[in-house]
Amino acid sequence: MIWRYPALAGLLLMGQQYAMSAPTWPSPTDELEDLMLLNSGYRSRGFSAPVIPCSAPGENRIAAAEWIRTAFHDMATVTRVDGPLIGGLDASIVFETKNSENAGAAFNNTLTEYAPFISSQTSMADLISLGVYTATRSCGGPIVPIRGGHVDATEAGPQGVPRPESPLSTFQNQFSRMGFTTNEQMIQFTVCGHTIGGVHSANFPTVVPEGSVPNDYGLLDSTSAGFDSNIATEFVNGNTTNPLVVATGMGAELTSDKRVFMADNNVTIKTMQDPTMFANVCQAMFQKMVEIVPSTVTLTDIVTPYDIKPYDLQLTLLDGGSKFEFTGDIRIRTTTRSATSISQVQLIYRDRTGAKVSTPIKTTSKGTASGFDDQFSFYGFSAQIPTHTSISSFTVLITLTNGSTETWDNNGNGFKVDDTVIYHAPQSCLDSSGKLTVVAAVRNSASSPSLNVVVKTPRPSAILVPALSTSSVPMTIQSAIGVYQLYSASYSFSGSQAQSAVFGVSAGNSADNYKNTNRLKSVCSSLAPSWTWKPIPSSSPLPAYATSINSSSSTVFVLSPSTTVLTSAFTMVGSNFSVSSTQASSLTVILSPSASTSTSFSPSSSSSILSSVTSSANSFLTTSSANVSSSITSSSIASSSTWSTSSSSSALQLSSYPSSSTTPSSSTTSSANVSSWITSSTMASYSTSSTSNSSSALQLSSYLSSSTTSSSSTTSSTPTPSSPSGPGFAGYNYTGCLADSIYDRTFTAKGQTVDTNSYETCSAFCSGYMYFGVEYGSECYCGNALPVPAVLHKDIECNKVCTGNSTQTCGGDNRMSVFQSLTLHPPPTNPSIPGYKYVGCHTDRVSSRVLSDTWLFSHNMTVSMCSQFCGGKKYFGLEFAEECFCGDVFGNASSVVEERQCSMECVGDQKSFCGAANRLSVWSKT
Ligand SMILES: *[C@@H]1O[C@H](CO)[C@@H](O)[C@H](O)[C@H]1NC(C)=O
Ligand SMILES: *[C@@H]1O[C@H](CO)[C@@H](O)[C@H](O)[C@H]1NC(C)=O
Ligand SMILES: *[C@@H]1O[C@H](CO)[C@@H](O)[C@H](O)[C@H]1NC(C)=O
Ligand SMILES: *[C@@H]1O[C@H](CO)[C@@H](O)[C@H](O)[C@H]1NC(C)=O
Ligand SMILES: *[C@@H]1O[C@H](CO)[C@@H](O)[C@H](O)[C@H]1NC(C)=O
Ligand SMILES: *[C@@H]1O[C@H](CO)[C@@H](O)[C@H](O)[C@H]1NC(C)=O
Ligand SMILES: *[C@@H]1O[C@H](CO)[C@@H](O)[C@H](O)[C@H]1NC(C)=O
Repeated sequence: MIWRYPALAGLLLMGQQYAMSAPTWPSPTDELEDLMLLNSGYRSRGFSAPVIPCSAPGENRIAAAEWIRTAFHDMATVTRVDGPLIGGLDASIVFETKNSENAGAAFNNTLTEYAPFISSQTSMADLISLGVYTATRSCGGPIVPIRGGHVDATEAGPQGVPRPESPLSTFQNQFSRMGFTTNEQMIQFTVCGHTIGGVHSANFPTVVPEGSVPNDYGLLDSTSAGFDSNIATEFVNGNTTNPLVVATGMGAELTSDKRVFMADNNVTIKTMQDPTMFANVCQAMFQKMVEIVPSTVTLTDIVTPYDIKPYDLQLTLLDGGSKFEFTGDIRIRTTTRSATSISQVQLIYRDRTGAKVSTPIKTTSKGTASGFDDQFSFYGFSAQIPTHTSISSFTVLITLTNGSTETWDNNGNGFKVDDTVIYHAPQSCLDSSGKLTVVAAVRNSASSPSLNVVVKTPRPSAILVPALSTSSVPMTIQSAIGVYQLYSASYSFSGSQAQSAVFGVSAGNSADNYKNTNRLKSVCSSLAPSWTWKPIPSSSPLPAYATSINSSSSTVFVLSPSTTVLTSAFTMVGSNFSVSSTQASSLTVILSPSASTSTSFSPSSSSSILSSVTSSANSFLTTSSANVSSSITSSSIASSSTWSTSSSSSALQLSSYPSSSTTPSSSTTSSANVSSWITSSTMASYSTSSTSNSSSALQLSSYLSSSTTSSSSTTSSTPTPSSPSGPGFAGYNYTGCLADSIYDRTFTAKGQTVDTNSYETCSAFCSGYMYFGVEYGSECYCGNALPVPAVLHKDIECNKVCTGNSTQTCGGDNRMSVFQSLTLHPPPTNPSIPGYKYVGCHTDRVSSRVLSDTWLFSHNMTVSMCSQFCGGKKYFGLEFAEECFCGDVFGNASSVVEERQCSMECVGDQKSFCGAANRLSVWSKT
């Protein structure tokens, strides 16, 4: 029957929220919830991309209709054997794409689109079910409630999808087998399934003769882009064009919709004319479809959005095991309480004993995301927590700008943090041969852990969806760190498995799971740390850890491991530097002409003056494979003598700080006042030009090479930093270090957060945009215009290393390094339209359109096309690059927002703006 046709799809304006119950975290549907809700923005998942907009491009395939059909064809073969249901929505269609009843490319397309998202948390059948929600909602239909817990079949099921040539009695038997009432639910279901879609003459030439309709599509109703009741209204009015009703000649025997709709003398189809009735009935029918599962399967509760949801909670040992770094993101649903009304988000946590810790964990905003009906803001955190007292759970404290606070405690449970077994990223890696090495730390009393790896393995050719398999590898004991025992295990991937694998570690009832291989380094650090240079931050007053270092002619650096665990002593040998103190995790190097030539370090040595090295110090040089037990030889240090901190050098900016009055600690080796501090921007630009292809020893030597005294007696040359006015990048001008924040994004056109962020990857991502901006190491934004005014900061504030290229700097915290293309056309504008004036960028929502008299979608959309289409209405507006809306009044609430939020170019005219997602560029009659 009708479900077998390629279809056109559309968009209509209605939205019903289902009743919210508050889910408790964690839940088995956490991954499904992400796929359902994070359509765009920070951490967006991209599941919905093929069906947004509903009127997706391509004349021969409309994904939204295909997704709904895939669910129906999968479910429709359900059978009852002596009572229990067999089959149903079980993804058996994966094995059935060659069956004649599944002819056409729709199923292959859909399964290929879903395949990347299958995981140990989300089955293919869950995805098929979610696809019904996503496709329906994208086309303006109701919210179809979705549950998780579907179980995938491992082989093909029986046949039995309705065929259009069948007599009514066959349809009645088939729908009755599926559990739908005849005739009412059979009719309702068929009407809902056909509100988006069309019949393609290539598949059914007798129903839609070639050339008889545009694009050889016979549309099932007049609103080809809308999940609406027109299919019923037009049938009842007798002016439908639905080929499955009106086909004549040889096609007449395939008019299955006519036979079905008239099965009860039009009683049911007449009730389906009412838009509200239509939405409610379709919601119920589609929910019923995705809940038809084998009797052995128990589905979860309906997936509803979390108000507060944690992401990537991770404990990592620091400081020889005395502290953790605790990192993660918190997602806050901002649908009802707007993001701009939040002034602060903090974590209030409890220690191992359950006692509340008085110091809250601060967060910083990371980005926003949205789904069809919800908006979210993400807040990231990184805090240090003593291992001894540790953490057991936290609550989230939101402070609003009006001073009110909200505490979110996960329905009274708190958000649990389990410190029993933790995955240890710094020592884990995936090498080029496909060998995965994973290190776990287990709190002393717990049992020994295992490494669990879930891989996707391609199946025989006709089956487009890979198989999932889980392996468990016992881990072997390594060294101990504090109260933690380290374990390690390896696993060798074959073929392309490594790219899509997910792994975790577990011990007893505790686990640290769902780690992606794409976050792994290619080289494992040994259990000893690799080292990172951290210049003393140019903040005033002096950081506590530096107050006892005094030298009138020295520059101070802190060398600290970028990872966590220093287990062995090492010796640093050289001239022209000395070491003032060490502790388990860091040491300070004072470059001075009269220093000693060799210093030994031991993890157990004094920790007095460096105890407060903070994570806020900027790091500029990461030695990926430095081994602390190796020596840094005097020759490697002496061989390079390339820079100076002379305050007269324009290349190196020096700031003066008040000398410290603090009494030097006993471990300090020099005694004069520190008068100059090298700034971080100097280090950034210098490291860019000095670190390529060098070994760790050489990298160190670049910094340890010469005196820092202003008498340049030991300095043989002075380098010129790569660009005194900021970083350079071919094809772009550096605009500057601009202020940016989550509440006031400089560029709103497009953005991503990736581990591979660099000028190269961001400029490629922003190809076609006038500007790209990189921020906070991993973020990339695109835009066509700068804000007015643009707030420029010192380049030094844009000094965070790019996650994808350690020799480039990618902005900072709320600071974006911005580059302007030298090759692009000028940015778009809002063109003038005779008789109208542009009245600003307005908010809009799919579920409550501002302008709703008529609308037009076109892949050639321009502003003048829209003004002509709207034919003299008081207002017209453009949205999402290709949508045009007309109206004489504003039908729903809307507010004017900043111009740059309407940042999309019109698909038919790159020189004009056409709104953006949920943003309408509006013109009003003059
Ligand atoms: C069908 O007929 C009704 C009632 O005469 C009319 O309101 C409607 O616009 C017509 N629809 C189409 C698509 O012609
Ligand atoms: C049902 O509606 C169709 C289409 O308008 C019409 O041709 C048919 O006569 C109606 N049947 C009854 C019993 O009203
Ligand atoms: C602050 O705003 C919230 C949300 O709008 C509101 O519920 C609360 O009552 C306000 N508090 C004060 C002190 O105005
Ligand atoms: C769908 O994919 C299978 C397996 O690759 C193939 O055998 C079949 O011909 C495809 N069907 C269509 C219509 O492309
Ligand atoms: C890029 O910078 C150069 C040198 O400062 C300047 O001459 C040129 O006009 C700039 N180009 C653009 C497009 O701003
Ligand atoms: C990393 O950045 C440097 C300096 O801008 C550049 O020369 C190099 O090509 C970049 N590497 C990659 C892989 O893009
Ligand atoms: C867009 O315009 C071009 C040229 O005017 C035309 O060939 C094409 O069919 C149009 N495409 C759409 C989707 O309207």
